[in-house]
Amino acid sequence: MKQTFILPGALLMFFLLNACQQEDKDPKQVSDATCAPLNPNGDSELALLMRKMASLAEENASALRQGKELAPYDGSFDKMLTAERSMQVEEQFFQGMAKSYITNINKLYQADSPEERVNLHNNLIQTCQECHGQTCRGPLKRIDKMLVQL
Ligand code: HEC
Repeated sequence: MKQTFILPGALLMFFLLNACQQEDKDPKQVSDATCAPLNPNGDSELALLMRKMASLAEENASALRQGKELAPYDGSFDKMLTAERSMQVEEQFFQGMAKSYITNINKLYQADSPEERVNLHNNLIQTCQECHGQTCRGPLKRIDKMLVQL
């Protein structure tokens, strides 16, 4: 008899706690550079990965502008498919865009001419822009500056 009450009780607690957390999220806390509100419990895996993706893209943009080699890439951005997030996104769209991103970055690192590299870099940045246009627009201003003019 006792056990039948534990589960509904636990569920109720869960919903109540969740409801409180939702109220804590003040949309004004979302900065221009980020997507989700700053999280006091630390940043999500995806947010940390995105910061690495953004710095690599910026390094590559400046290398390409100066006719230099790309910065090294270790393949770790594949993790974006499964990284835990701090915000809700439409799953099918996210997975589709994340797969395009991974395909595009691999193509970039296989390119063998500088012109091709600039084109493939810009394709990659368009993938960032497309996904951010539909998920969170905060970092778009920063991302726009990563495009390289031929
Ligand atoms: C498939 C969709 C998708 C693609 C592609 C994508 N992003 Fe993101 N990005 C997100 C989502 C979702 C978040 C929010 C992560 C979170 O808070 O858990 C995010 C977060 C960020 C952040 C904020 C990180 C922080 O400090 O909170 C930056 C900056 C960023 N992305 C830059 C980029 C750049 C640059 C690219 C391309 C090189 C890119 N993103 C590609 C979906 C995407």
